[in-house]
Amino acid sequence: KLPSEDVLLQYILKETACEKTMKGKRVLVTAGPTVEAIDPVRYISNRSSGKTGYAIARAARRRGADVTLITGPVSIPAPSDVHVVHVNTALEMLQACEEAFPSADIALFSAAVADMRPAHAADHKLKKGAADADLGTITLVENPDILATIGAKKGPHQVVVGFAAETDNVIANAQAKLVKKNADVIVANRVGEGLAFGTDDNAVCFVDADEIDETPSMPKDKLADVILDHALEYLR
Ligand code: C5P
Repeated sequence: KLPSEDVLLQYILKETACEKTMKGKRVLVTAGPTVEAIDPVRYISNRSSGKTGYAIARAARRRGADVTLITGPVSIPAPSDVHVVHVNTALEMLQACEEAFPSADIALFSAAVADMRPAHAADHKLKKGAADADLGTITLVENPDILATIGAKKGPHQVVVGFAAETDNVIANAQAKLVKKNADVIVANRVGEGLAFGTDDNAVCFVDADEIDETPSMPKDKLADVILDHALEYLR
C-alpha cells in the first residue's frame, strides 16, 4: 500500500527542510582527470572516475548551495541544477577556477590533475620509431598546481579543501600539502590495489593544522556530506 499524499509531503518537507545547511553558499568543486594531448589520438592522464567530486557537487546542491562543478572528462552523468564547466587540460581547469573562485565561499579540489603535459601536442599522429617526433621521446613540461595557485589567493572568508591520494606516508604527505597549497584542510586517502579509484566506498583522513580525523569506510555519497560538514567548520 502506498503512503498517502499527506504522509509523503510531510516526509519530503522534513527531508528537504533540515538539509538546507548550505543555502546561500557558493561552492566550487573540481573533479575528474585532466587529459593532456600528445597527438590527435593519444594523451597523458590520471586515473579518476570523478565519483567523489560529483558526489560532493550533488550533496552541496541538495543542501541548498549554488554549485559550480569544473570537470575533466568522466563517464558519469553531471548532477542536475549545478553549473557545469567541462574542461580537458590542466591549463583550461586553472582558467575556469580563476574565473569561479573569487565568488566562491568554499572550494574543493578533488580533480586528479595531470602533473605534466607534453611540451607540444603534435597535430598529426606520431609514428612508432620514427626518426623525427618519435613517440619514445615526448618532452614533458610541468602543469601549474591549480590548488596551490588558487590557495595562494584565498581570502579570509574563503575555505579551500584539498585532496591527497597517497600510496605511502599518507598523513605526512597531507600535512606537507596543507602548508604548500595553503589549504584549510586536506582530505587524504590511501590509494592502490582495490582502494579508492572507481570504487563506491572510501575512507579518508581529515588533516588540518591542529588535528587528524579519520573516518570509517562509507559510500562516496555519504562521504560527500561528511566532507561538506568538515568544510563548513572553517567558514568564518
Ligand atoms: O600534489 P598532489 O597532486 O598530490 O595534490 C593533490 C591535490 O592538489 C588535489 O586537491 C588536487 O586536485 C590538487 N592539484 C591541483 N593541480 C595540480 C596537482 C594537484 O589542483 N597540478
